[in-house]
Amino acid sequence: MAQAARDVIIKYMKKHILVTGGTGYIGSHTVVELLKNPDYTVDIIDNLANSKAEVIDRIEQITNIRPNFIEGDLLDKKIVEKLFTENHYDSVMHFAGLKAVGESVEKPLDYYENNLQSTINILNMMKKYNVKEFIFSSSATVYGLQDTPECVETMQTGQNLTNPYGRTKYFIEEIIKDYALTDPEFKGVILRYFNPVGAHASGLLGEDPNGIPNNLMPVIMRVYTGDIPVLSIYGDDYDTEDGTARRDYIHVVDLAQGHIACLNHIKAGVSIYNLGTGRPTSVKEMIAAFEEASGEKLPTQIVERRAGDLPECWADPSKANAELGWKTNLTIADAMRDTLNYLKHEGKTHA
Ligand code: NAD
Ligand code: UFG
Repeated sequence: MAQAARDVIIKYMKKHILVTGGTGYIGSHTVVELLKNPDYTVDIIDNLANSKAEVIDRIEQITNIRPNFIEGDLLDKKIVEKLFTENHYDSVMHFAGLKAVGESVEKPLDYYENNLQSTINILNMMKKYNVKEFIFSSSATVYGLQDTPECVETMQTGQNLTNPYGRTKYFIEEIIKDYALTDPEFKGVILRYFNPVGAHASGLLGEDPNGIPNNLMPVIMRVYTGDIPVLSIYGDDYDTEDGTARRDYIHVVDLAQGHIACLNHIKAGVSIYNLGTGRPTSVKEMIAAFEEASGEKLPTQIVERRAGDLPECWADPSKANAELGWKTNLTIADAMRDTLNYLKHEGKTHA
């Protein structure tokens, strides 16, 4: 049989996954995990609003496979439809979205338009072209402030959300649930990520946000490289052992592997899973772990609490552990080591 014919048959035997936002931080790590599995073939669509096309080269360097990349905006219905007419997708992993909390307060309409409309465009095409499996990147932010800091999937969501970004996640979750009611064969998964950190062990992929970062780990990285002069710790008067707020930091590779577990266990209806470690770590503990890994002391200062911050928030991951057969394996120390390795690869060293 001719090689071309063999390639076509192999392509149709594989599960074809469309990854939106696949050049972004979490999407790129997930594509690597997908490509490690010979059963999957991957197309990526991304408008590069917050990522670089070079990520595709990096993915190829790691996996020896070059995923098909379409540079395009999910708001452009024609581009999205073209994808679905030219390919038969088995599943869609929908990472694409804007995610900067502060920016979402300044530009709420951009956030609602981008995050909601892109999801609606994808779901419309899935409906039209009979694609049933959908995995969505949601966030622990949908829990808002709860009576207890350990979040369980059954808790009420959408209360006390402090910014438009968080509300887009909540609204999209509701859209997915409503859509699922119209199609008994639809298999939807809502993944509530806790705080992703770390980088690929190769140092080739990591988080490199445009503009001024807000999240703790990118700020630590910029303080280390000297781009930010001092790390402001937002409050040391919380009711925790060292007074700083605590979160559930999950290594991005563990998080990526959670998506593969989802594909293997996907079922009709909408399933919701927390992806977190179940262990809280304080801001001071994170800084100490980075200092331990780098051997460098970071300049810090204590400042006021940041408006809208939760004192503590971590996952109860037992549902994902039991139903997906997934659990985290990597530690905060692993995340710090891999982050430093990524910085080194990027030529960004200690100031
Ligand atoms: P990221 O910004 O690195 O990746 C998102 C990607 O989506 C980017 O590459 C961006 O260019 C692309 N994109 C945005 N709008 C698009 C559009 N209209 N069309 C095509 N591409 C578009 O972010 P990430 O950290 O990898 O996050 C991935 C998903 O996970 C997001 O939906 C985010 O809200 C969610 N999430 C992230 C975190 C986190 O802390 N990183 C936590 C919880 C949830
Ligand atoms: N922090 C600092 N200094 C900084 C940055 C952060 O002390 O320069 C502290 C924060 O006050 C918080 C902790 O570090 O106590 C973590 O902050 P992040 O901004 O990294 O993460 P959050 O949990 O506060 O929020 C982020 C997103 C949310 C999302 C949540 C979980 O902003 O939208 O992660 O995914 F829901």
